[in-house]
Amino acid sequence: VDGCFDLMHFGHFNAIRQARELGDILVAGIHSDEEIEQNKGPPVMKFAERLEVLQSCKWVDEVVTGVPYNVSAYMDNIINKHNCDFIVHGDDPSLNADGTDAYAAIKAAGRFRMIKRTEGISTTELVGRMLLVTKTHHDPEDSEPHSPTGSGSAGSSGPIAMQSAFLATSRRINQFSNNLTPAVHDKVVYVNGVWDLFHVGHVRFLKRARALGTFLIVGIFSDKEANSHMGSNFPIMNIHERVLSVLACKYVDEVIIGAPYQVSEGLLKDLNVSVVVKKPLCDLYYQHEDTEKEEYKVPRDKGILQEVESRDLLEDEDAETAIVNTGTILQRIIDHRLKYTHRNARRAAKITDYEEKKTYVQEL
Ligand code: CTP
Repeated sequence: VDGCFDLMHFGHFNAIRQARELGDILVAGIHSDEEIEQNKGPPVMKFAERLEVLQSCKWVDEVVTGVPYNVSAYMDNIINKHNCDFIVHGDDPSLNADGTDAYAAIKAAGRFRMIKRTEGISTTELVGRMLLVTKTHHDPEDSEPHSPTGSGSAGSSGPIAMQSAFLATSRRINQFSNNLTPAVHDKVVYVNGVWDLFHVGHVRFLKRARALGTFLIVGIFSDKEANSHMGSNFPIMNIHERVLSVLACKYVDEVIIGAPYQVSEGLLKDLNVSVVVKKPLCDLYYQHEDTEKEEYKVPRDKGILQEVESRDLLEDEDAETAIVNTGTILQRIIDHRLKYTHRNARRAAKITDYEEKKTYVQEL
């Protein structure tokens, strides 16, 4: 299965999950920034950032880079070099810049398999939600909450995520869940947060937290709780959407949907938690020192609180990649608002056309 996997969301994860159902090994192909720019407009997330999130998905066995947008031109490589039997795409059309079907040759060779595209989500949709946040960015009456580095003001317009058209079903959560419970001997690690716009910073943090034990439980704040700390229209993704992204990550064993803000004695006991992990305060742009003290008071007093960085650099790493967070992603949209508005207008028309013409496809 190939794609841009830009601003990776549960629609991408669900496509990968379905593709994995079709066989034994899943190879995910990813396009370069240049390929995306030429065919769809500028990607929001850089190649290295998209790659690391894709690699962290629990249904991905191998990742192949350098796959052109016109996948048909790369078919021989996919079949002969990467040993794939089938090439998968959602039921939405994927057109080259010249309007031809990117999968035409693959379909003609009988190597194509179609899966159901997930309703109510796309990169375009997410960019649209972020453009809405940035719309009043320069409004002096209401400018503070829109600053990604600002503290936010509680409840100014309510969480934007409520507008999502995603149909949350119990089956979907079940498909994404590991259905695991920690064994008595497991060393349970607990982390909590908003996990909005699931990105490379989250992946690195979760990987390091998981390495401190044998079972990682991730607490996810409700939209209301998240909004009361982040302000403005945050979170961009609603609780169901955020839950699915976190569940798709291979370092996560279980999630708490709508976790309490304060890590209480009762929670630690109920979940048999040995270690609570948090990021250094400076990393959390929406968090204040006082609330942070309250949030982690119990594990700190018990001596089981540990700090883990999500942004220290490996030697060959790009410094910009390492400092990504919800705020810096929004800042990219603010900085290139016009470019993204144009890109979205073009993409939105295609999505509407697909939505109108689509017929029912059974999901795997
Ligand atoms: N996909 C899906 N459901 C979505 C979005 C994407 O099933 N809501 C699938 C696509 O059909 C494709 C794969 O995910 O098989 C990778 O898609 P990608 O090329 O990254 O992007 P798009 O299809 O354009 O999706 P988006 O608009 O979110 O970028």
